[in-house]
Amino acid sequence: MSTPLVVGNWKMNGSLHEARTLAKEISETLGNTKEVKIVVCPPYPYLLAVKNEIEKSLIRLGAQNCHWEEKGALTGEVSITMVSEICEYVIVGHSERRQFFSETDEIVNQKIASAIKFGLSPILCVGENLSQRENGEASTVVSRQIQASLEGIQSPDGLTIAYEPIWAIGTGVPATPEIVSEVMGGSIINTLNRLYGEQRAEQIPLLYGGSVTGENVEAFVALDCVNGALVGGASLRSNEFSDIALITSRVKTSD
Ligand code: PGA
Repeated sequence: MSTPLVVGNWKMNGSLHEARTLAKEISETLGNTKEVKIVVCPPYPYLLAVKNEIEKSLIRLGAQNCHWEEKGALTGEVSITMVSEICEYVIVGHSERRQFFSETDEIVNQKIASAIKFGLSPILCVGENLSQRENGEASTVVSRQIQASLEGIQSPDGLTIAYEPIWAIGTGVPATPEIVSEVMGGSIINTLNRLYGEQRAEQIPLLYGGSVTGENVEAFVALDCVNGALVGGASLRSNEFSDIALITSRVKTSD
């Protein structure tokens, strides 16, 4: 499998000054690391400032969202082509967008198609909520989200999938390695194999996300089906984010 991947999703946090400082600190500690790919996803208005800070490093930039159209009368939106001028990655279908901004699988599908068309690497987020988990529907829900989000996408170039159970996001209660193994190693891999064939599917990096910390990351990335992590809260603390990246690199390179 290719280089592991650790993505920091800063969400709607920090000031311009804090974003610059965080980017500077991360690029000082991780900027030359080749064993693990690092992506940071700051809020839109800070993308350029962060890009400047990480310019000379190997760290890559991602956006947290995009609109699938190239341009138009869509006040407040940021188009895929605008994002593609600045970023290499874009997070699509994060559960907070599905939950608070009514993003459906159809919308997610348009964003993925557009990201691939304009050469961005989409990070597709999927995951069940608590009642779906309690009803034993996690695997079905995740498989359905993937199928619907990738509908009509023949060639998933640059695609990454992040399994983020909603009940684990920002709660301090991560999933267990058993759950991650079952959903990612089972449902997600099976769905991708069905859609793209085993050979193509195994090139799609799979991340775990949901209350990942420096303390618990090892148990997740030690799983064969996990290629890295999508980190929210802990990505705002440069020391901890660096620990997460370095642990991932150590575990994955000793595989
Ligand atoms: P968290 O967020 O690490 O704070 O749980 C993860 C995410 O939402 O991507």
